[in-house]
Amino acid sequence: MRSYNLLSLLVLCVSSVLALTPTITRRAPDAECTVTASGGDDAPHFLSAAQNCDVVVIPSGTTLDIQTRLNMTGLSNTNITLQGTIRFNPDIDYWTGNGFFIPFQTQITFWLLGGENIVMNGGGTLDGAGQAWYDAFASNSSLLRPIILTVFQAENVLIENISMLNSPEWHNLVSMKRKMWCIPTSLSMPKSTSDNFIANTDGWNTYRSDNVVIKDSNIVNGDDCVAFKPNSTNILVSNLNCDGSHGISVGSLGQFPGMFDIVRNVTAVNIRMSNAQNGARIKAWAGQNVGSGIVQNITFKNFIMNKVDNPVVIDQCYMTAADACAEFPSNTFIQDIFFTNISGTASGSKVASLACSPDGRCSDINVDGLDGLKAGSGKTTFTCQNVVLEGESAKLFPTCTDTSND
Ligand SMILES: *[C@@H]1O[C@H](CO)[C@@H](O)[C@H](O)[C@H]1NC(C)=O
Ligand SMILES: *[C@@H]1O[C@H](CO)[C@@H](O)[C@H](O)[C@H]1NC(C)=O
Ligand SMILES: *[C@@H]1O[C@H](CO)[C@@H](O)[C@H](O)[C@H]1NC(C)=O
Ligand SMILES: *[C@@H]1O[C@H](CO)[C@@H](O)[C@H](O)[C@H]1NC(C)=O
Ligand SMILES: *[C@@H]1O[C@H](CO)[C@@H](O)[C@H](O)[C@H]1NC(C)=O
Ligand SMILES: *[C@@H]1O[C@H](CO)[C@@H](O)[C@H](O)[C@H]1NC(C)=O
Ligand SMILES: *[C@@H]1O[C@H](CO)[C@@H](O)[C@H](O)[C@H]1NC(C)=O
Ligand SMILES: *[C@@H]1O[C@H](CO)[C@@H](O)[C@H](O)[C@H]1NC(C)=O
Repeated sequence: MRSYNLLSLLVLCVSSVLALTPTITRRAPDAECTVTASGGDDAPHFLSAAQNCDVVVIPSGTTLDIQTRLNMTGLSNTNITLQGTIRFNPDIDYWTGNGFFIPFQTQITFWLLGGENIVMNGGGTLDGAGQAWYDAFASNSSLLRPIILTVFQAENVLIENISMLNSPEWHNLVSMKRKMWCIPTSLSMPKSTSDNFIANTDGWNTYRSDNVVIKDSNIVNGDDCVAFKPNSTNILVSNLNCDGSHGISVGSLGQFPGMFDIVRNVTAVNIRMSNAQNGARIKAWAGQNVGSGIVQNITFKNFIMNKVDNPVVIDQCYMTAADACAEFPSNTFIQDIFFTNISGTASGSKVASLACSPDGRCSDINVDGLDGLKAGSGKTTFTCQNVVLEGESAKLFPTCTDTSND
């Protein structure tokens, strides 16, 4: 049940008649509100509509100009029908000082979307207006760049039929109490009109999230297509086209001292991975002064690779020098991993690399149906360290049958 202030409603309706300040038009009794551009900062109108209306429509042809941060938490039964565009005004000084701070990996975000029973669909676009960010980042590599959308402590969220473009940095961060579906969405590679490199444009990142489904989407980007960050459980990723990415990645995990990271029950299935640095990947830190954790029950199944540098990867020495790794092996344990039915071509000769820390830190690693995975050039090569494969798995990796290999 919603209550709303009739007077303010009236004011909104009246003001929407005045051509210069169209804001929110509400149609009783179904509480559907239309939000159009005001000519100034549209964040307050959009926020108020989301808090007060069952259905918020941003019509086709409308571009909302978001100049101030959107704290859209605490929603309940809210549908956002985005047919037009939401564009985040690239006022760098404003956002670096006022974007919502996310301590994990030192991030900020334009938009916190949270609460329960939230739908966002309609065929519209979230535009991160990234060019100013790419140019500013080129001269300040510690610049905080905002994530477009952070789904924050939410329950039952459906995001479908939305495009995202020109992300300053990560496209999405998902931190869910329970259940999110994302079907289908399209993320397009930010295009820089200058020579400046566009870094860290992860597609979807899950963090402290349970029960997330991401499927039927096209993701063209320049960093992880989907990454399962600390404490991601029961995640299904299916039917994705990932182009240009750094892979479907578990991690990186075990980065921060004193933290224990869990990733459990993840399935990634029916993935087409093209022009990518990695395909199916698990990455965990080793060395001194890092964290710990567990990666358990992860399945990568039915992947088709096309020009992928490292199609199948376990790296338990991520971002760590080899000597540090040998002295201080990873305390993020990796168990019950299945790489199944992975085909296509690598960029070079290496098709799979399973590099684990010693002393049983990787166990029950299974590869099956990788026969169709070929080198793009040279002799097809599988490598491994500290992994013991058995049965079918061992046939492809003849050197991985005992722990003395290197
Ligand atoms: C967002 O708004 C909610 C509810 O008004 C408030 O409790 C919360 O502190 C705000 N979050 C941030 C990060 O400002
Ligand atoms: C919100 O969207 C969902 C999914 O499309 C739909 O089932 C539901 O009826 C919508 N709610 C309202 C109030 O229109
Ligand atoms: C996406 O939204 C557009 C515009 O509302 C609509 O025409 C189209 O059918 C939707 N597509 C899907 C897959 O829902
Ligand atoms: C670089 O960005 C950081 C973080 O946003 C900021 O604190 C710092 O002042 C910026 N440096 C310069 C030289 O602008
Ligand atoms: C993950 O969950 C475990 C167990 O609840 C907790 O101890 C740990 O602090 C959590 N880690 C993160 C990064 O939230
Ligand atoms: C993993 O899935 C199993 C089987 O459905 C379930 O029993 C277990 O609780 C799940 N683990 C987590 C961490 O959710
Ligand atoms: C492993 O995770 C999958 C979901 O990805 C789940 O269906 C399955 O039950 C889990 N297995 C175990 C043994 O927990
Ligand atoms: C293997 O994966 C390919 C590509 O996704 C799929 O077409 C094929 O049906 C899969 N084979 C099996 C046995 O599942």
